Amino acid sequence: MDQVSVGLLGFGTVGSGVVHLLLQEQEQLGERAGCPIHLEKVLVRDKEKLRKIKLDDDRFTVDASDVLDNPNIDIVIEVMGGIEETRQHIHRALRNKKHVITANKDLMAVYGSELLEAASDNGCDLYYEASVAGGIPILRSLTDGLAADRIQKMMGIVNGTTNYILSKMNREPVTYEEVLKEAQALGFAEADPTSDVEGLDAARKMVILSHLAYSVPVNLEDVSIEGITEVAQKDILYSKKLGYAIKLIGIAELDNQMIDISVQPTLLPERHPLASVENEYNAVYVYGESVGETMFYGPGAGELPTAIAVVSDLISVVKNMYHGTCGDHIFLPRREKICKPDEAIKTQYFIRLHLKDEPGAFSKMTDLFKKQGVSLEKLIQEPLDDHQSAEVAIITHETNKKMFEETYHLLKDLDVIEDIKSYYRVEGMK
Ligand SMILES: NC(=O)c1ccc[n+]([C@@H]2O[C@H](COP(=O)([O-])OP(=O)(O)OC[C@H]3O[C@@H](n4cnc5c(N)ncnc54)[C@H](OP(=O)(O)O)[C@@H]3O)[C@@H](O)[C@H]2O)c1
Repeated sequence: MDQVSVGLLGFGTVGSGVVHLLLQEQEQLGERAGCPIHLEKVLVRDKEKLRKIKLDDDRFTVDASDVLDNPNIDIVIEVMGGIEETRQHIHRALRNKKHVITANKDLMAVYGSELLEAASDNGCDLYYEASVAGGIPILRSLTDGLAADRIQKMMGIVNGTTNYILSKMNREPVTYEEVLKEAQALGFAEADPTSDVEGLDAARKMVILSHLAYSVPVNLEDVSIEGITEVAQKDILYSKKLGYAIKLIGIAELDNQMIDISVQPTLLPERHPLASVENEYNAVYVYGESVGETMFYGPGAGELPTAIAVVSDLISVVKNMYHGTCGDHIFLPRREKICKPDEAIKTQYFIRLHLKDEPGAFSKMTDLFKKQGVSLEKLIQEPLDDHQSAEVAIITHETNKKMFEETYHLLKDLDVIEDIKSYYRVEGMK
């Protein structure tokens, strides 16, 4: 091959990083890929927009067919975002026998299997390393580095915005709303942060990770999702007193052929490697049957970290083209999906509640836990300012989700309990 030609869909944050690398690192990339890489066309919405990187006017187009149907283009890099239109673009590129690289987790979480199948049918590559945890090469680690092991559990801090907010709340006595505003001003949170703070973005990434680690056709409906909007400063305070940090954790577990995927604020012991992942950083903790504990840490987003993942995919595709192995690396789910029932989901819980300050109230509460078979590992009780009630924070021993939720509803109806403020999973003790 004398050279390969690339068409770019999108020239925003990630697109600019990709072009920067293609231009600045031309020689090194050519050496590593085995031939020069040429940027042929760039699709944008607005050709007149002022760009950080200057390219000749004729390189830009607003017509997707100039990339998707262009016979000179071998590889399409999709960094424009969105779902429906992008899905059609990728199908069209694959039908035209172009290999595709995408950074789009929204798309891959929903239509990943469909697009991978289309790529396989067309003998094309479809790589998407940048779609999970930006600059951390976690997809490659699962499919290559850990290919020989059985992954039992993954826990991920895979959303930088929520990790930034919780880290700040952990360091300073500030509310969720105050930190969100600051994060928006600093560019760590979107103007509309819903998909981040409600846990949807993390859920999408856990779907992509689970698909690769467990070879099961999971989708978003299989993920139980809870965001961070209800996490109060008091939850953080009591977690700390008990020796834990609260993080938004995506959990994916395969146990007895049954899968369980969830995203929720979770307490982790302060000594757990994920507990020290601060600010906008991401990390994925992977537990393999043979390898044991591993953790992958790094920047989860940003222009250059994400572009590195995209361009590394590009080098892999060029190498595959050279060896004639394109489409051979497509990873399609091979196992049937069986979701774990609630009674099989075992974890510890943190619960914070207000208990009436009257004789016998405490034993009424602990009796209920005992009757339900939920034993308590740690407990703190402190008087509230009104002197009529006390705040109680509890860590339970391991129990199952169904039993805990039943206990929660019974506690809510108990006459000595004024209010249950919050409850979260506690992980990482094993
Ligand atoms: N930003 C990150 O750190 C990061 C990290 C990991 C993954 N990702 C993923 O990477 C993708 C791109 O993110 P980004 O942050 O680079 O987005 P962005 O800054 O908003 O850039 C999007 C680019 O796509 C172009 N575009 C959007 N819709 C288009 C359409 N319908 N037709 C033609 N051009 C269109 C825009 O054109 P104009 O410039 O003319 O408006 C812009 O150049 C997303 O899927 C995102 O989830 C991003």
